[in-house]
Amino acid sequence: MRVFDTPSALMREAANLVVESAANSIAARGRFTWTLAGGSTPRSLYALLARPPHVDRISWDSVHFFWGDERCVPPDHAQSNFRMARESLLDTVQPAADHVHRMPGEAEPAAGAEAHERHLRRFFSANGSDPGVPPRMDLVLLGLGPDGHTASLFPGATALRETERWVIATHVDQAVSWRLSLTLPVLNRARHVAFLVVGTEKAGAVRAVLSGRADGDVLPAGRVAPEDGEVSWFLDAAAAAEIGESR
Ligand code: 6PG
Repeated sequence: MRVFDTPSALMREAANLVVESAANSIAARGRFTWTLAGGSTPRSLYALLARPPHVDRISWDSVHFFWGDERCVPPDHAQSNFRMARESLLDTVQPAADHVHRMPGEAEPAAGAEAHERHLRRFFSANGSDPGVPPRMDLVLLGLGPDGHTASLFPGATALRETERWVIATHVDQAVSWRLSLTLPVLNRARHVAFLVVGTEKAGAVRAVLSGRADGDVLPAGRVAPEDGEVSWFLDAAAAAEIGESR
């Protein structure tokens, strides 16, 4: 866990993590499979990676972009996680189309989830992975909601009990919308998961996830525990305020 005085200090360190993870993955396997987080927090990280010095420190041609979740809206919609990443990073680094594995938010939710799962199974089996086993993403970035949700896995959702599917469609009452999300079987196969959490409104969720809730229930973000991978928490001081962590 790393606690930073300011969000910008957090994002600088997170950018270094992406650079390092990309270099290690490309050196080891010839590519970097990177699952991007949605929401608003990571926008400043993606923008930082799109300009010097970081933009010159990643071999973008070897990067494959995935998403942890997507709102069921068209890719040019203001709520689209893809649009946020396109505006802040992809328009600058201009990856090849077959390196951008966008979740089809424009599709009917259940059909979109099935189509994306087929795409992931095709992509990873064509690249030597066992199609029967969830893919090992090199780096998964995740955010945290005030209720302890991550990606689009919300407290109490049946999606949390999914053990076979890699991608599900889920209706989010709290946000009154349908979403597509990677499931825990995929998230928990990652080589490295990094949570990026900023702001006072997340402090309660950070405490509940990292210290365990009084009622013993494990919040969705607390269920992300790769069996053979690393989990990093990047917190600003405001988000860490209730765990009293020393810097
Ligand atoms: C989404 C994200 C979601 C997000 C958290 C935090 O599609 O909204 O996947 O899990 O990471 O809700 O959102 P903010 O970064 O906007 O606070």
